[in-house]
Amino acid sequence: MNKDVEAILFTEEQIATKVKELGKQITVDYENMEDIIMIGVLKGANVFLGDLIREIALPVYVDFMAVSSYGYSTQSSGVVKIMKDLDIEIEGKHVIIVEDIVDTGLTLKYLTENLKSRKIASLKICALLDKPERRKCDLKLDYIGFDIPDRFIVGYGIDYAEKYRNLPYVAILKEEAYQ
Ligand code: PRP
Ligand code: MN
Ligand code: MG
Repeated sequence: MNKDVEAILFTEEQIATKVKELGKQITVDYENMEDIIMIGVLKGANVFLGDLIREIALPVYVDFMAVSSYGYSTQSSGVVKIMKDLDIEIEGKHVIIVEDIVDTGLTLKYLTENLKSRKIASLKICALLDKPERRKCDLKLDYIGFDIPDRFIVGYGIDYAEKYRNLPYVAILKEEAYQ
């Protein structure tokens, strides 16, 4: 276990089981649809998206967006700027946004408003982790892996100061690691 980790919240196996479930559910829900596009929000969603798309037994397009939020270093401010936009045309497509974690919800609020204005066929959100206690806006999540408590977590794509993204599990970080 990484020396900065206090406890493992979800093991590799638990995550894999959940990702399979989500992939199956999406496959069932989108079975009769064409032009499905999964959009990963860089960088955190990269690992989850990579695993999730391989559990979906349908043809899907894959693309990424990068956004940055300004303000306090460990908290998002709600002011979001697009740093990298989509490469693929999404007009008329069924969009699924893929996120690693929803905290205040402000990143996804901005992204959903932005994507909805692009004449898409439908929009859903799939997030591996949700911290409902922290929500600062109204946001409907369509697929959620796990609800989690308001603790500082890392791994499976999620960073603290750009570190720990490659941990294969989701872990609670020791307090001394972020002081
Ligand atoms: C993190 C996380 C989500 C967002 C959630 O990304 O990956 O995208 O914050 O926070 P919110 O619900 O309060 O908006 P971050 O901005 O740290 O970028 P990263 O994915 O590159 O780590
Ligand atoms: Mn992110
Ligand atoms: Mg981050």
